Amino acid sequence: MAVTRTFSIIKPDATRRNLTGAVTKMLEEAGLRVVASKRIQMSEDQAKKFYEVHAERPFYGELVDFMTSGPVVVQVLEGEDAVKRNRDVMGATNPADAEDGTIRKTYAESIEANSVHGSDSDENAANEIDFFFSKDEIVG
Ligand code: CMP
Repeated sequence: MAVTRTFSIIKPDATRRNLTGAVTKMLEEAGLRVVASKRIQMSEDQAKKFYEVHAERPFYGELVDFMTSGPVVVQVLEGEDAVKRNRDVMGATNPADAEDGTIRKTYAESIEANSVHGSDSDENAANEIDFFFSKDEIVG
């Protein structure tokens, strides 16, 4: 299995509850390595652009409001089959559907305040990494 990269966000509901370390520990224990990380306040423009694919969804406005409601931690994660590995440890989007032992089952508050984002394909991972990081910020 090839070593690949994915993009992760620790969302405002998790940073507000001081869970950056706890979430990162679960990512690391799942076999992912943090090769870039920064805590940022996302601007409205950034959040709108990042979630552009959901622009027509009824929850788009609330999603943008939520993602700009406090600091987030954006990360690049590296590991074998990183996109799938990360999605497996995150669990289902809705914490009510997430399996025991996943980040969302353990920490998420709701389908919106669901503690983490993770890329859904290698192609999106590359685009999302480029959106937030320059090459020299990633140290593998
Ligand atoms: P994320 O992986 O960041 O990608 C899109 C986000 O939209 C998703 O996690 C959820 O936080 C949010 N989302 C998806 N479906 C809904 C919904 N029905 N209501 C509110 N937020 C949603």
